[in-house]
Amino acid sequence: MFNALPDPGTDPILRSALVFQQDPAPHKIDMGIGIYKDDYGHAPVMASVKAAERRLVEEQETKAYLSGAGNAAFNEQVRGLLFPEAEGGKGSDAGARAVTIQTPGGTGALRVAADFLRGQAPGAKVWIPAQSWPNHRHLFGTVGFRLAEYPWFDMAAGRLDFDRAMAAFHSVAPGDVVILHGCCQNPTGADPDAAQWGEIAQVLAQRAALPIVDIAYQGLGDGLAEDARGLATICAALPEVIVASSCSKNFALYRERTGALSFVGETRAAAEKASGHALHLARANYSMPPDHGAAVVAMVLSDPGLRALWSEELAGMRARMGRIRAAFAAGLSEASGKDFGHIAHQKGLFATVPLTAEMVARLRAGPHIHASATGRLNLAGLTAETVAPVAAAIGAELRELTDA
Ligand SMILES: Cc1ncc(COP(=O)(O)O)c(C=O)c1O
Repeated sequence: MFNALPDPGTDPILRSALVFQQDPAPHKIDMGIGIYKDDYGHAPVMASVKAAERRLVEEQETKAYLSGAGNAAFNEQVRGLLFPEAEGGKGSDAGARAVTIQTPGGTGALRVAADFLRGQAPGAKVWIPAQSWPNHRHLFGTVGFRLAEYPWFDMAAGRLDFDRAMAAFHSVAPGDVVILHGCCQNPTGADPDAAQWGEIAQVLAQRAALPIVDIAYQGLGDGLAEDARGLATICAALPEVIVASSCSKNFALYRERTGALSFVGETRAAAEKASGHALHLARANYSMPPDHGAAVVAMVLSDPGLRALWSEELAGMRARMGRIRAAFAAGLSEASGKDFGHIAHQKGLFATVPLTAEMVARLRAGPHIHASATGRLNLAGLTAETVAPVAAAIGAELRELTDA
């Protein structure tokens, strides 16, 4: 049977990671896979995480099973991060209507959500941004959903294609599922502003859609609370929202598979019922999520000293992204003869530029710059030293487009 199987194909991001590993060039540059790297090109364990890990090794007395919902302290802390109280304690009531369960990464959260929705709303269409994390299509397609695409990014203008996105939202059918990136849109960095979030929330409420807010980069845009404002706006306008969140990036816990699935219901009791169904499905899948990353996150967030250290580290990551974005935007504009100033103001790790697959191949073969074939660039792969030459090399390719 195995012999007769067709070629399975590979995820484009994982494939480009493999190609990067196999490139023997000593000065190769990885702008492919979506991990945060520091100014030395490393993805280190955060100091706050390391301190919590040490403490955990000392203090943990059992590895006995927890429940399918994972680490209860983690779930409460993550709920607090996603739904922070607004100043003066007058936030939306979304946190009080939410139930959070731990999952194996943000991917695990999306998969449990997809299984849950496939059972409860098999006829729904799942709307995914035209530019998105490739696994969204793969994951919801694998579960058997009909997929639809909504416009997101105007490549020529380098900004959110808001009017066209809104036009598509107006044709969403009641009960359809709409996937939104909570912040730091992957792969474009183009997030809605506060007014645009308001309009999106309004139209989705009018259409009686069920949004899934995928928030994998909280804290890497404008700040922890700031990055959750779009989610708050969606939850304030809609009775039911599903949230997939990840600690892979903001705690640098990638391989520890630490994420969460939150149901925001009309009432907390309704959210509890939904999460109960999700847990039933998780039981038939992985049974329980891995504990280590979640125990670390729970400890960091509940200890004031560790939490302060983590916030500081996260602020440092954010500031570095700001510097790299500014330098890259300036270098790229100069080398290409086209204005890429928007890259300086967009959010998170990624930018998407109009590179063709042939240009990406040339950049890999020549200066050993590895990017994804769709023109997504992980700007965190650049350092103070490499940003100028890389911007010059990519800009030279893009100048061809301008000249053509
Ligand atoms: C938009 C988006 N959602 C979800 C994920 C999943 O993250 P995790 O590694 O926690 O599964 C990623 C990871 O790159 C992502 O970019």
